[in-house]
Amino acid sequence: MKILVINGPNLNMLGQREKEFYGEMTLEQINGEVKKVASELGFDVEFFQSNSEGAIIDTIQGSQNFSGIVINPGAYAHTSVAIHDALKVVKIPVIEVHMSNVFAREPFRHTIITGRAASAFIAGMGYKSYIAALYALKLLLT
Ligand code: DQA
Repeated sequence: MKILVINGPNLNMLGQREKEFYGEMTLEQINGEVKKVASELGFDVEFFQSNSEGAIIDTIQGSQNFSGIVINPGAYAHTSVAIHDALKVVKIPVIEVHMSNVFAREPFRHTIITGRAASAFIAGMGYKSYIAALYALKLLLT
């Protein structure tokens, strides 16, 4: 089984940005941890990051050959009806993740649009939100 991990805008800056929320690890280091746990769970994994809404939508639309998606839409979670609509079309489980607990932060982060189209939602566990999402996919797919 192959899963797709999508990261949205500014997540390529992990390790440098707002470390109090996102920690010290770079996206590359997080992806390394994800890859390890994914292989323990029997998943192949592919990673995609973009700062562009359209590129994320194109990737979601092209995800037919995957068994599941883990997506951190970044700030698009709060604004993007278009990513929401793209996720609505896919027939595979989608786990939306956020490293920070968005509900404990500024009010503009309390509105989640994309998550309404996800199978499950995990927030507030730092990089372990991605790891928890792998276990969630394992539970949903077996
Ligand atoms: C985030 C939360 C978003 O509100 C923010 O815009 C991000 C990161 C998270 O992982 O906690 O870019 O998605």
